[in-house]
Amino acid sequence: MISQPASKQIETILAIETSCDDTAVAIVKSGRTVLATTILSQADTHARYGGVVPEAAARLHIEQVNGAIETVLTEAGLTLEKIDAFAATLGPGLVGSLLVGANAAKTLSFITNKPFLGVNHLHAHVASNYIQSELEPPFLCLLISGGHTQLIAIRGYQQFDLVGQTRDDAVGEAYDKVARMLSLGYPGGPIIDNLASQGNPKAYRFPQAKLNEPFAFSFSGLKTAVSRTYARARACLPAFENNGLNESDLQNLNANIAASFQYAVVETLFKKTVACAQAMGFSQIALAGGVSANTALRQRFEALGNQPETGYRIYLPKKQFCTDNAAMVGACAYFDPLTADIAYEVFSRAKQ
Ligand code: KG4
Ligand code: ZN
Repeated sequence: MISQPASKQIETILAIETSCDDTAVAIVKSGRTVLATTILSQADTHARYGGVVPEAAARLHIEQVNGAIETVLTEAGLTLEKIDAFAATLGPGLVGSLLVGANAAKTLSFITNKPFLGVNHLHAHVASNYIQSELEPPFLCLLISGGHTQLIAIRGYQQFDLVGQTRDDAVGEAYDKVARMLSLGYPGGPIIDNLASQGNPKAYRFPQAKLNEPFAFSFSGLKTAVSRTYARARACLPAFENNGLNESDLQNLNANIAASFQYAVVETLFKKTVACAQAMGFSQIALAGGVSANTALRQRFEALGNQPETGYRIYLPKKQFCTDNAAMVGACAYFDPLTADIAYEVFSRAKQ
């Protein structure tokens, strides 16, 4: 039997996520069943600038949020009266963007006289593992996104201990920077993921940082190694007229760099996570955050889960719930809302 959540009387939650560059709304029942979900990506707009432009993101959220709310209500066949509570991400994130979602949810809560539930974005990523799954704490969570790389001991739905984190770049940030080095576009993670499948992961040997603290991470050395190796290898490619390079030579080099970079990342994340689970006695391991959509990383963990003799159970959110989405906000609002402080404002410091 699945244990009781914090908010017992609340079943159906309409949740909004606007912490960065996706306008997402979902309706989630009992923290695990998604009745409707929509995501309006702004990636095309931000891709022109090579990264998220906060002012543009906030303005697009304003334009899109009402339509997204109507979409999910229609898709679920529900009216506002059938919603028990309204939820939104309060932080961490871009303040202008957060305000749009928070104000939309607070307004709906005010006009329907139903509760407003605030959610921490990182906790929402963890909660993405409860969607369409039976997972219950305790478990070890590897949270890997554009801004965070953390190993977290999840002892209860609202009881978290940070075990280790990156000392410099987040792993998603490293993906985005390597993609930029290779002039591949934004966001870099899915592009590198795709390109890596065409390359040789052993073509270059990139460092897997070993640190004094066993469960800490570092990706800045890897990023520098990739940059140096790429510059050197690119300079060795045969140049043609006007210093042009052969397209397929460049494509091969990019694929090999992407595959070798990804190999170093996957091995580092996998080995540290399993060692941590073993040291701390966790048999359940869950992944969360945008980078957990990565094909090679998922395969590495799935292979471990398919060996029952090891005793590990592996939980991977569906790919659509790895990157920012509102279903995870609905799940988090049910199991782990910010402690019912309605006056909590997005411009105050978000609870980490
Ligand atoms: O969780 P998320 O959507 O937003 C944050 O809270 O940061 O994560 C976004 C990050 C980006 O850095 C993106 O490049 C990375 O997740 N990402 C991936 C993949 N899909 C998204 N990284 C590696 N492989 C992927 N398939
Ligand atoms: Zn996120």
